[in-house]
Amino acid sequence: MYVMGVDLGTSSLKYMILNQDKLIILKGSEEYPLLTPKPLFFEQNPIEWSNALERVFSKLDKNIKENLSAISFGGQMHGLVMLDKNKEILYPAILWNDQRNYDEVTKISEEFSLKEIVELTGNIPLTGFTLPKLLWVKKNMPDIYIKINKIMLPKDYLVFYLTGEYSTDYSDASGTLMLDVKNKCWQKKILEKFDIDENILPTLHNSSDEIGFIKKSIADKYNINANCKIIAGGGDQAVAALGSGIINNQEAILSLGTSGVVFVDLKEFPKKNNGKLHVFCDANYKYHCMGVMLSAAGSLKWLANNVYETNYINALVNEIEITDENHRLFFNPYLSGERTPINDPFAKGCFYGLEIGSKRKDITRAVLEGVSFGIRDIFEEFPKAIKPKRLRVNGGGTKSRIWLEIIANTLGIELDILETSDTVAYGAALLAFYRNKEITNDDISIKVVETIKPTPNLTSYYEKKYNVYKNLYPSLKRIERILW
Ligand code: XUL
Repeated sequence: MYVMGVDLGTSSLKYMILNQDKLIILKGSEEYPLLTPKPLFFEQNPIEWSNALERVFSKLDKNIKENLSAISFGGQMHGLVMLDKNKEILYPAILWNDQRNYDEVTKISEEFSLKEIVELTGNIPLTGFTLPKLLWVKKNMPDIYIKINKIMLPKDYLVFYLTGEYSTDYSDASGTLMLDVKNKCWQKKILEKFDIDENILPTLHNSSDEIGFIKKSIADKYNINANCKIIAGGGDQAVAALGSGIINNQEAILSLGTSGVVFVDLKEFPKKNNGKLHVFCDANYKYHCMGVMLSAAGSLKWLANNVYETNYINALVNEIEITDENHRLFFNPYLSGERTPINDPFAKGCFYGLEIGSKRKDITRAVLEGVSFGIRDIFEEFPKAIKPKRLRVNGGGTKSRIWLEIIANTLGIELDILETSDTVAYGAALLAFYRNKEITNDDISIKVVETIKPTPNLTSYYEKKYNVYKNLYPSLKRIERILW
């Protein structure tokens, strides 16, 4: 018996196969392009996702496919996928980091006070969320809006492609601003206010629910077990938490993928909520809160690919040292605007402090530090009672030890490195393994392989540097207002 976990990311689809002893026996990935047709626009064609999954199916061993008992997913959140009544894709998916819909965010804020919207949905309106994306389509592409039969989130498209069913799960639906997160149902007051037909929304499920069997046409085409079950899955952060063994109250992770996230699991819906952090359902029957920066490992990828024009990110990172305390170069990581805590779709990236002697390694270091300071900004938003005391780490960026050292010292807490950093695919595989039930401590045996500890001198160095960094955004914003 085998199960497959799929991580539907922003730059690639990663997969992992577990055997009946829950051992990882295979993993791999398939890349696809990110479309940026205009400033502030981020899109992807859902066909790229199903094609990537089909490429995986065609590569898998006959034995695995014939004995594949379930597939589940963790997916990039918030993206708007729209299908017409013939089940055709109406427009590329408008992704989580797309910022075109700031007018719609303002409109939502005019209709509901902050207090009201937080009471209704658990969250505040943000350009990242799905509702303002849908309202943007309604206003700017009415011919497309009118043809919408169903909308869904990115990983739900793969579930639909495999089963023909329109489903979503509570964790992913939490990021739409259309879910009453506390009561786990679509929020009728929001739908009524913006004249959205509830029938276009998919059916809500727990992340471990079985949605159906794989379609016969796909099973036959790739020789996959016809009884293979498709499990709802969840938003990437919630599924990564599961895959990192974060299932108990107040356990926390830091995720360094394209986005950067500090995530704290909560047993109950919080009594106090000022909307500064997202309050969402988790993938395991409870809740969590998190803060999100939009360009974490994405900033490093930008530096490598666009500035240095190389794919060898590790080689660049290996050049840097953090011993030189005279390094005074700063980087604001707002390459796609920023979410937590500044919520500014127009925020821009910036280097400050370049000198004639600045070298490539100084610039790389500034980027790693800038992202670490962005994570500290999120960390500062957590109320004392739930501020993480230590963090498990996951995501591609955590493969860089020096980056983890910078982060541990910037936050002043210990970071636990896990035996696998592919925790979204692993968490999805666990959902496929333990379908239809809450996962408990006994079910998860992921090991911490190393702990990175802050050191007193580096912590005070980074404290000083963070205090400078903190002032950059407000100052730059003032200049921007004068200039533009
Ligand atoms: C979470 C978020 C990102 C995306 C992409 O709120 O926007 O983490 O899910 O990974």
